[in-house]
Amino acid sequence: MTQEIFDWPNRELEAAQTLPSRYFFDPAIFDAEKRAIFYKAWHFACHPNEIEEPGQFVVVDIFDQSVIIVRGRDGEIRAFHNVCQHRGNRLVTERRGHVRTFVCAYHAWTYGLGGELRGAPRTERLEGFDKSKFGLKAVRVEYFAGFVYFNLYEDAAPMTNLFPGAEAYFLDLCPDIKDMRLDSEEDMVVPVNWKVIVDNAIESYHVMLSGPCHKELADFLDFEKDLPICRGNWWTLGGPVKPGLDKMFGVPIGDEPYQTETYMNWWLFPATCLYFVPYTDLVSTFLIIPTGPEETFVRFGYYTPNRPETKITSACKDWMNGGLGPEDIELNLTVQKGLKSFGFDQGRYMIDAERSAESEHAVHHFHNLVHGALTSHQ
Ligand code: FES
Ligand SMILES: [Fe+2]
Repeated sequence: MTQEIFDWPNRELEAAQTLPSRYFFDPAIFDAEKRAIFYKAWHFACHPNEIEEPGQFVVVDIFDQSVIIVRGRDGEIRAFHNVCQHRGNRLVTERRGHVRTFVCAYHAWTYGLGGELRGAPRTERLEGFDKSKFGLKAVRVEYFAGFVYFNLYEDAAPMTNLFPGAEAYFLDLCPDIKDMRLDSEEDMVVPVNWKVIVDNAIESYHVMLSGPCHKELADFLDFEKDLPICRGNWWTLGGPVKPGLDKMFGVPIGDEPYQTETYMNWWLFPATCLYFVPYTDLVSTFLIIPTGPEETFVRFGYYTPNRPETKITSACKDWMNGGLGPEDIELNLTVQKGLKSFGFDQGRYMIDAERSAESEHAVHHFHNLVHGALTSHQ
């Protein structure tokens, strides 16, 4: 592929024009992103409490790749490519489960929780068949900031090197993370390019200026202090609420337990976001997994401490699921349409000198990371 496809004229920060529109629908660029970014990235797997017992597992798919993350009998969490080593059948078809062994539905090859091949019917008839050579293929796995992540690329740098400071920042916001549990999970497929979703979620320029729920959000955020801050491969967006606020979502603040007083979106490149809404007893995930040039799978998870849901938490979930979220999705859909217009290619980021709450420098930063990954990939 020629490098011209990745050209991005006028991308210098102060006067930057936006990433050319083909980046949001061209199948060749999407294919390059797959290889240069997603097959090499750390992906969110689960909270360790989701697979607390030996044999509990979750499955996460990234394009045509599928990974099983499972707790072993020794208490260790491991990840494996979700494929039988006999003739390549997809081993597990469920999203979650609890097993003693993994048994392939085709010819019943059976794998232990450590990936070892335990049984392979009739193979005693084979000459020189060595079971130890046909275990499941391991995938890199790490604990980071309270959660489990995996990487399909064997030589990936450790997360602490790629995201320096991100773990400490997160744990400071959420010191109780190890006791939290998955409360609910919702998946959605949105017919837009994955970057349209990320772009929308990492700028507050639209917060005062778009739909009614966004304006409500603007009513409680302190726009003097809620800044997008770029930190290399990770970035944050958020800050405190307005001083003197006594209610959020119609519920009094501070009467019930909560996680943090800060509104915060914590992002890892390329597309993992964990976020906090102040005074709610929640940490939420917003996982963006592309499935095609113009289609993206989005997974929302709510993690809570082991106690009854507070009123402000329920009100916040209703507000996000029924208000803020749909408003953003509608904007994403109309942006995707607009990006394909013959009448648009590059616009202009609104990046101000103060790098204010409304400045779009984080969008530019994110686009630079994408562009850099594509142009440096061999
Ligand atoms: S493909 Fe799995 S046992 Fe044959
Ligand atoms: Fe929004």
